[in-house]
Amino acid sequence: ENQSATLLKQDYQAAQELYHHILMRTQLGETALNYLHQRQLTDATLEHFQIGFAPDQQQMLLSFFQVKQKETSELARSGLFTQTDEGKLLDRFRDRVIFPVQDQSGDVIAFSGRILQKPDPQRPVGKYLNSPETEIFNKSKTLFNLAAAKKEIRQQGEVILFEGFMDVISAYQAGVKNGVASMGTSLTEQQVYLLQRITQRLIICYDGDAPGLKAACRALELLQSTSLEVGVVILPQNQDPDEFIKSQGAQAFSQLVHHKSLSPEAFMIEYLSRQYNLNNDLEKVDYLNAALAYILPVQSPVQQELYVEQLAQHLNLPSSTIRQELQEQQKTKK
Ligand code: CTP
Ligand code: MN
Ligand code: MN
Ligand code: MN
Ligand code: MN
Repeated sequence: ENQSATLLKQDYQAAQELYHHILMRTQLGETALNYLHQRQLTDATLEHFQIGFAPDQQQMLLSFFQVKQKETSELARSGLFTQTDEGKLLDRFRDRVIFPVQDQSGDVIAFSGRILQKPDPQRPVGKYLNSPETEIFNKSKTLFNLAAAKKEIRQQGEVILFEGFMDVISAYQAGVKNGVASMGTSLTEQQVYLLQRITQRLIICYDGDAPGLKAACRALELLQSTSLEVGVVILPQNQDPDEFIKSQGAQAFSQLVHHKSLSPEAFMIEYLSRQYNLNNDLEKVDYLNAALAYILPVQSPVQQELYVEQLAQHLNLPSSTIRQELQEQQKTKK
């Protein structure tokens, strides 16, 4: 690893310690600490994830590094600052809760900062602000919490893939410690490669809203060409994992993840059923054909039968009719 990367990692480590200290031990962090407590995070959890707070000041972090006699060029390429047209450096993260993001070896390489308020659709400020890509941070090769969860993932032979920071963190607090997050963006091949090296089994646990289901569908496509065994959890009532844990409790969540995940085929039958108006006969036929495409390649007759029954329920038709249709399509395929 080159000298420059090592320096940037030191900067992120120092910044993380400062932000964490401000959150846990100072008056400046009080509102943010209240916010996180309100979201039911314990101090032990805040410690574990080294969560911090960047106060609403333009050059707090900058002065901190200037006292340490850091070179401006290094600070400029760190991604910790923005630069004005006149070349002045300003703290990138202001008035935001700081989630540190580590690489596979556990070194801090980026931050994501969350606003304390509910996102206001009128104001164009993003709920989360991420570090830009730098020589140490490549977003598509990074999974939040991978380094810390690696041991647990290996022991359990399974990784749980979430969308967001708060999902991983809430799950951890609920005792589900083998979670990582793709941080909102769609899963990449490089991320899958990282996971494949440490486990055989992956459970997708994205948000239960339409974007979450769609992202799960895309992730399944990507995962098809891998050796990973995949399960998918559908969260009820548009909840995300964090919200589910809060409303249903830790035990219900653990049950859901460990005993109620769907196979890729069962997920697709469910997902597709929500894409069609099943009160309309033409759409019913479209749905039937779309779903059968996933059932046709299934080798095991028992599995196939279970999917036929699932499909029959959605279509409100006798399963014998679906079975007939499946057999017809199997013939023409041969
Ligand atoms: N995300 C992002 N930028 C945004 C919104 C989301 O980078 N403006 C990423 C974050 O990593 C976030 C994830 O996408 O954790 C999932 O987004 P979302 O479901 O909207 O956020 P939550 O994780 O549910 O955040 P919170 O519970 O804090 O509202
Ligand atoms: Mn601490
Ligand atoms: Mn979401
Ligand atoms: Mn969410
Ligand atoms: Mn959430």
